[in-house]
Amino acid sequence: MAIRKIREVGDPLLRKKSRPFDTVDEKAKELLEDLYETLKVTDDGVGLAAPQVGVLRRAIVVDLTMEEENPQGPYFLINPVITKKSGEQVCREGCLSVPGKLGDVIRPEKVTVEALDKDGKKIKIKAEGLLAVVLSHEIDHLDGILFIDKATEIFDQEELERLEQEEAERNK
Ligand code: NI
Repeated sequence: MAIRKIREVGDPLLRKKSRPFDTVDEKAKELLEDLYETLKVTDDGVGLAAPQVGVLRRAIVVDLTMEEENPQGPYFLINPVITKKSGEQVCREGCLSVPGKLGDVIRPEKVTVEALDKDGKKIKIKAEGLLAVVLSHEIDHLDGILFIDKATEIFDQEELERLEQEEAERNK
């Protein structure tokens, strides 16, 4: 297992379409493990897709185990596909490949994702709320799509934090 370098916006590889796996072989498993290891050492990442570490294959990891209200995951997914979606929600998203930026993105409220798990077994995830957002965001990466392409508004993270702090000071 290894921690891999995360590619950032401007890297043409992030804009390419990833190839599916025929089977969940050792290479696929190692990639999933590396994605998880790499995700774990980030400050606040909840998902990572293979192209973000420079591998154009359809693999993602999603980890919402740190969520207080509804901990979920970690999910290790090969060839994930959204087979059903419904509703709408707006989420303020960030991305490890787009440091310092946040954006408001309209995502489905609910999605059904079908994929293969680490053992090559077919799985189906019925997700809603934050999990639906993160799965949609990570699957977009496999088609070269970043949240900044879909955001209705983009914010500078530092600026946003400064404004929030000022607001908190005023309300003391
Ligand atoms: Ni991302």
